[in-house]
Amino acid sequence: MKKRLALSTIAATLLAASSLGFAADDTFKIGLILPMTGQQASTGKQIAAAAQLYMAQNGSTVAGKKIELIIKDDAATPDVTKRLAQELVVNDKVNVLGGFGVTPAAFAAAPIATQSKTPMVVMAAATSIITQASPYIVRTSFTLPQAAVAMGDWAAKNGIKKAVTLVSDYGPGLDAEKYFKERLTFNGGQVVEALRVPLRSPDFAPFLQKVRDIKPDALFVFVPSGAGAAVMKQFLERGMDKAGIKLIGTGDVTDDDQLNDMGDGAIGVVTSHHYSAAHPSAANKKFVEAFEKANKGMRPNFMAVAGYDGMRVIYEALKATKGNGGGDALLAAMKGQIFESPRGPMFIDAQTRDVVQNIYIRRVQKVNGQLYNVEFDVLKDVKDPGKAK
Ligand code: PHB
Repeated sequence: MKKRLALSTIAATLLAASSLGFAADDTFKIGLILPMTGQQASTGKQIAAAAQLYMAQNGSTVAGKKIELIIKDDAATPDVTKRLAQELVVNDKVNVLGGFGVTPAAFAAAPIATQSKTPMVVMAAATSIITQASPYIVRTSFTLPQAAVAMGDWAAKNGIKKAVTLVSDYGPGLDAEKYFKERLTFNGGQVVEALRVPLRSPDFAPFLQKVRDIKPDALFVFVPSGAGAAVMKQFLERGMDKAGIKLIGTGDVTDDDQLNDMGDGAIGVVTSHHYSAAHPSAANKKFVEAFEKANKGMRPNFMAVAGYDGMRVIYEALKATKGNGGGDALLAAMKGQIFESPRGPMFIDAQTRDVVQNIYIRRVQKVNGQLYNVEFDVLKDVKDPGKAK
């Protein structure tokens, strides 16, 4: 059955191609490298779904070119990312690379983008220095310093004097740890212990036990999208909230992809981030409704919005170059784009090629029987604080 379906799909595609007379240079290829399997699979699924939604809403012909979206699974393994990036550039001759679910994957592909002069749109990875790995990188996700600094301010203003940090032990975690600590300390608070957990299959139990013994005012957490539910579960199982320890963090921990399944114990957790599915704007309402309609049982998270906006940046660059531009022209047309995203206003800083956006402070609340990150404060137009250093 499957085989018959596949064969008929191929036949239909060939027929369509021949009858419409598409030549290779009438196509514009976007190669997304995403973790569709493994520990980071939710990121891949969210971004792929959002990219497909963007195409369904905005058409697949732009500036006379037929857009072809190619999605490759790297399982968040950098060696595989590198090989796939090479294949996409050399064999498929993609016009743009995109995706990159984790920081090491973005670093693995960066030299290929540089050598082939292919724009590389980072839609997930969020360590500050990624944009410096290639002049062809443009980022539509966020940076950990952007989010963590906002939390350092909020914590200090809200009676948190003594905190412990717990982060995944790699790029984004180290950024989160550093910038939260710097800002809390600047505001008169203190990080009394900085705990780092392995990225792969982490066991949070011994770390949380340590936090319980220290009994800080708050535990600040960064774990990558997809790992938040495990932290929340163990935090609650140990009764740490009841022991008076507040759970705070960047919004990765109360990820919209998992939040609703975390249970009422998550209510009250405060985080800082650039996107919430509950962001109260007409543009976001439209985005969330369309995403949920096209993907039953799924709620868009911050990865989805970055994939959606990444596609927008690519489409608009293609329009601006009238379909004739090579990598350098496309890159130039990506720099400086300014628009209203479902997350709120955002722009791609032409100098840094990084995203400038609002960072919201949010609290988990029940809305119509579902758990959401409800925004209650905002820092406007935040640049990546990591760039100033
Ligand atoms: C990253 O690896 O850069 C990364 C992954 C997931 C996140 C944030 C950062 O939620």
